[in-house]
Amino acid sequence: MDRIRITGGQKLSGIIPISGAKNAALPLMIASLLTPETLTLENMPRLADVRQLNRILSNHGVDHAVDGKRPGDAPHTGETVHFSARNIVDTTAPYELVSKMRASFWVLAPLLARMGEAKVSLPGGCAIGTRPVDFLLMALERLGAQIKIENGYVIASAAKGLVGGVIDFPKITVGGTHTALMAAVMARGDTMILNAACEPEVVDLANCLIAMGARIRGAGTPVIEVEGVTSLHGARHAVLPDRIETGTYAMAVAMTGGDVLLEGARADLLGSALEMIAESGSDISIEDNGVRIRSHGGDIEPVDVSTDPFPGFPTDLQAQFMALMTRANGVSHITETIFENRFMHVQELARLGAKIRLDGDTAIIEGQPQLTGAPVMATDLRASVSLVIAGLAAKGDTTVHRVYHLDRGFERLEEKLGACGAQIERVSDPG
Ligand code: EPZ
Repeated sequence: MDRIRITGGQKLSGIIPISGAKNAALPLMIASLLTPETLTLENMPRLADVRQLNRILSNHGVDHAVDGKRPGDAPHTGETVHFSARNIVDTTAPYELVSKMRASFWVLAPLLARMGEAKVSLPGGCAIGTRPVDFLLMALERLGAQIKIENGYVIASAAKGLVGGVIDFPKITVGGTHTALMAAVMARGDTMILNAACEPEVVDLANCLIAMGARIRGAGTPVIEVEGVTSLHGARHAVLPDRIETGTYAMAVAMTGGDVLLEGARADLLGSALEMIAESGSDISIEDNGVRIRSHGGDIEPVDVSTDPFPGFPTDLQAQFMALMTRANGVSHITETIFENRFMHVQELARLGAKIRLDGDTAIIEGQPQLTGAPVMATDLRASVSLVIAGLAAKGDTTVHRVYHLDRGFERLEEKLGACGAQIERVSDPG
């Protein structure tokens, strides 16, 4: 199993290209199930989660073809991938595939919309919380689906097709909003989605669906209106830049010091996260080709944050911000309001010398002048990258185990950081 070895203490300087967003790419790929024509996605990131979703979509009959490199393409230029779901050959998504990645559960809505039936394994829990799917199922029922749960599978049917309706989410849910959109676009009549998620990835999905012929208004606001159409066609769409990758590297620079251009990043996608990083003492400027961050790595101010749906501070940056706060000049508080168990990185950060106390949904972090390297292990994607950035700032060597978590969501992480002066390498165990 691969490990990442880091020798901390180097400042970062140079350019880090930002890849296409994992959490936009996944629902966009799933949207290809809605049409027999080809959906072409540009700026696709090369990630383990994308490869896993390709396997799942192939099982339903989706062909995918990757364009070759064009002259002038850099190694990090996103891929262009063509997805064709000409014939859906299977409407069942089995446990063996769905259990590996929660987002694959989202195939339920487009399969149901196009085929009138779908059987998808329940995704189960995961390391950051219980993560139920009740709101997703409620959304489909509001559009006329019959749903039953049998032997760990959700069996959904709408023999006469889905019909428009009002979906009022009791809590903001990204996956619920993706599901509602993909179900409503080909339903008979109009749908109103209330308390919808406003995340940029929802807007990206809506824009792609619009390019495929859907009629959607209001994506990016809490009220989305959809006018059903009878069919969707092929389209070409570019995946938006990854705001979580952007925020992660910005925090790495804030913590180690240095001057880095996050090339291709869009500040407007970051919500309050960039403000929080700036408040902690870094200079952030918006340039023509990305976002630039400068910091001298000392004098990190303590900043209290609470995670919230967009445009609030994203839960997917909470662990990384906690790593930054472990070096602050004072005490900070980080409250996690989205997932009940997303503090698995706390005990690992402590191995690097961080002082963190948990009080319910709040972590109280007493900043330290110096962290020291150690072997650490992570339990989820964002937690593991928080250990990488803490390791970059720590004195001595840090080894991060279970790198497969990182590979799910960060493309060529060690290469991108290494090019900016970090001492970081991937070590593979023989055999
Ligand atoms: C998406 O997960 C992201 N995943 C997550 O990123 C992200 O943390 C999360 O949104 C919040 O921003 C992808 O986009 C692939 P939710 P999702 O439905 O859609 C509760 C990462 O690291 N809820 O918005 O599954 C739920 O338990 C991942 O890239 C219900 O109670 O999250 C949570 O408390 C991790 N019932 C809250 O809503 C439901 O039916 C928000 O979850 C659905 C959700």
